[in-house]
Amino acid sequence: MKELTITAVLKVYQYDELSEIDHALICAAMDATSRSYAPYSHFRVGAAARLANGVMITGTNQENAAYPSGLCAERTTLFYANSQYPDQAVTTLAIAARTETDFIPSPIPPCGSCRQVILETENRFKQPIRILLYGREAIYEVKSIKDLLPLSFDGSEME
Ligand code: THU
Repeated sequence: MKELTITAVLKVYQYDELSEIDHALICAAMDATSRSYAPYSHFRVGAAARLANGVMITGTNQENAAYPSGLCAERTTLFYANSQYPDQAVTTLAIAARTETDFIPSPIPPCGSCRQVILETENRFKQPIRILLYGREAIYEVKSIKDLLPLSFDGSEME
């Protein structure tokens, strides 16, 4: 028997420790939560993507009475970014979420399906996507989705 250990690097920041460029992206994700369509969960998620050409794209979770038909903010944002700018890599993705009362204290990590789509976007443009997860008490940063999705399936096994 052999045991493999997989390590992930996650940095924890206070808001003031980040650059103004990061503040702008996080603020855009926070602001986007007001455009979320979440009549069922009342959990408003906003995401903001910075592209290689400097353009910033935002998106929100979009729910549906047939629950599985809805989509998370991260995927809405990445699909929109790739639809509008198919030749531009996504360099940074910021995510913020709030309940009916306030932004959440600890960041929400993206769901499994969103991680898979972020991975595909990294692979498509052959460069990592830095991810900033906003919480009132801390902001998490990972340099690549590979830190959140180790041992991932990216289709290379099919080649
Ligand atoms: N949601 C997101 O938009 N992103 C996540 O990373 C987790 C969950 C949305 C989906 C649904 O509209 C609501 O939050 C509750 O799960």
